[in-house]
Parts: sequence; structure tokens; C-alpha cells
Amino acid sequence: MSTLELKSIEKTFDQTRVIPGVDLQVKDGEFVVFVGPSGCGKSTLLRMIAGLDMPTSGDLLIDGQRVNDVGAADRGCAMVFQSYALYPHMTVYDNMAFGLENAKVPKAEIEQKVRSAAALLRLDQLLARKPTQLSGGQRQRVAIGRAIVRNPKIFLFDEPLSNLDAELRISMRSELRELHRRLRATMIYVTHDQVEAMTMADKIVVLRAGRIEQIGAPQVLYEKPCNTFVAGFIGSPRMNFLPAELVRACPALAAAVPAAAKQIGIRPEHWVPAPAGQGLALTVAGSEYLGAQRLVQARLPDQTPVELLLPGDRNDAPQDVIHMTADAGNVHAFDSNDQRL
Ligand SMILES: Nc1ncnc2c1ncn2[C@@H]1O[C@H](COP(=O)(O)OP(=O)(O)O)[C@@H](O)[C@H]1O
Ligand SMILES: [Mg+2]
Repeated sequence: MSTLELKSIEKTFDQTRVIPGVDLQVKDGEFVVFVGPSGCGKSTLLRMIAGLDMPTSGDLLIDGQRVNDVGAADRGCAMVFQSYALYPHMTVYDNMAFGLENAKVPKAEIEQKVRSAAALLRLDQLLARKPTQLSGGQRQRVAIGRAIVRNPKIFLFDEPLSNLDAELRISMRSELRELHRRLRATMIYVTHDQVEAMTMADKIVVLRAGRIEQIGAPQVLYEKPCNTFVAGFIGSPRMNFLPAELVRACPALAAAVPAAAKQIGIRPEHWVPAPAGQGLALTVAGSEYLGAQRLVQARLPDQTPVELLLPGDRNDAPQDVIHMTADAGNVHAFDSNDQRL
């Protein structure tokens, strides 16, 4: 159980400033997800927290104590990698016990810890197997078990589900959430997948080019993204961005467009049919039938492409003109600097 604080953390590799400056506080027991595009510095941040990389400047605090000069082995962080990093010649039991044996933990205590972690992860029947005799999901659970037996202050996960197939990824998400609930541990989880971030996090940290763009609960990021980057990154299908002057000319939407607005954001799931002559006139280009919903591609009069997630029983055909609006609460306005108004 631990808190974590990053104060003006910077990281430069050679001449390149990969992390220009990050300030962050993580509360005891929080499940925090770092999300952002590939190369934005997620792994670098995590490695600095773990003690595998040194910050160029700034302070790292665990439970209020500065740990910059504390080695990785003594920081009390356990990291789980995408690649599992299991020893192929060792059994599941030995893979989980290895770190404790190195630390000269008494044998009986090791056995108790390994068996209890194995039970938690439903690996108890597999302790005698080698990694090659396990499925991808089971291997990842062994890697997580190896972290659990160390009883770390902070768990660090670096894209741990990326090598699993889609179905398994979804079930592992809820397993990890359940694990968090049971262990009540502080966890930091890195992913480039915004759906993973939305479904798992207590608190999401959105990163771009080594900077924090926004920190907030999933619902806050979805409902009130602070700029166009977060607005476009969080939510699937992606938010539509429309020229403000065009939306301002539409009677049903004009009141939702502030004077300083440059772009208007409307999510595909927020379009609703407008009364005749009141909405935006959209020309249908095509659609994908998804069952309960139909994802319609259309264009504004100025040819700006937009997507609409409409009820599945609609049968809009290419070249149809449909008139659409959105509730004022679902209309996002951004200024000329891409900031939310
Ligand atoms: N050891 C290193 N030496 C030089 N550049 C690095 C090193 N590690 C990472 N980088 C660079 O830092 C940036 C961030 O990398 P990384 O933290 O791995 O991103 P992410 O995990 O978000 O995909 C990338 O541009 C990457 O090329
Ligand atoms: Mg990475």
C-alpha cells in the first residue's frame, strides 16, 4: 500500500527530451492508467518509477520518501511486461519462487506465498508445468503471480495484455480489475489502447509527446475532454470535428456554439434527427450494419466527413440527405488553440 509522486520529472536520451516535465500524484490503492500513442513516453515513465531508468531531473517520491537514489531492487515496485519474461526451463512454481529464493526468503514462507498467489490467479493446478505448456493468458498470469509474491508497494504493468488475442484481452481486463479490488494495491498500468484505459482505470493520465494532456476519471475525459487531442483520442468511434462557422449557421445548434469556437466536436453516438429545416444537412456516403447500431459515413455541405452511430434499423442509402443535430450537452466547442471552451 503506497502513494507515488512525480515532481517535474524530465528525461533526455542523448540530445532528445523525451519527457519534458511530468507532475503527478497517485493515491494509495489507486488504479491509474497511462494512455497515449506509441512513442509518447509511457514505458520511459514507468521504467523511471521502477528504477530501471534514471530521471534527468525531478523527484520521485514513494510514500513521501525521495527514491531517486534507491535501486530498483529496493524500491518495492514490481513490473509486469508485455513479453512475460518467464524462464523457459523453470516450472510455474519456480518462476514465481525465483525472486524470493534470491532474496533468501525462508522456504516455508516462499511456498505459502506462491500457493496463495497461484490460488488467486487460478494457477494452482499448473504449478508443475513449464511455460511452453501454458496458454498465453496463463503465462501472463504467471508473470503477474511473480509480481504478487513480492508483495510490492506498487504494481507497474507495461502493456501486459498486448500479446493476447482479443477475447482473452477482454477477460484479462476484468481479472486484473478484480485482482486490484482484492489486493487493494496501488497499480500503474500502461497501454496505447483507450478502450483498455476507459474500462480499467480509476484515473486516466493521457500523454502526448512526454507531456500530460489531461488527468481524470474515464467519464470526465469522455464528457469534458480539455482539448481536441484528448477529445479525439478517448472514445470509439472517434469524435467528429466540424468547422464552427458551419455549425453556427444551423438553427438547432447555433446556441451551443460560443463566439470563440473554431471547431465543434460531436461524438458519433450523439447525433439525433433534427426537426425539418433545423439540423445540419448531411449527405450519406455509406454505412456499416453492426446489428443494434448502424455506423453511417456522411459529409457536411463543405465535404467534411462525419460518422454517425444510429439505430440499427435505419436504412439510409448513399446520396440520401439526412438532417441531424445533438443535445447541447453533447456539443463540444474548441478554440483556435484546440482548447475546450
Ligand atoms: N534507451 C533509449 N534511448 C534513446 N531513446 C529512447 C530510449 N528509450 C526510449 N526512447 C525514445 O523515447 C520515446 C518514448 O519511448 P517509450 O517510452 O518507449 O514510448 P511508449 O512506451 O509510449 O511507446 C521514443 O521516441 C523512443 O524512441
Ligand atoms: Mg512502451
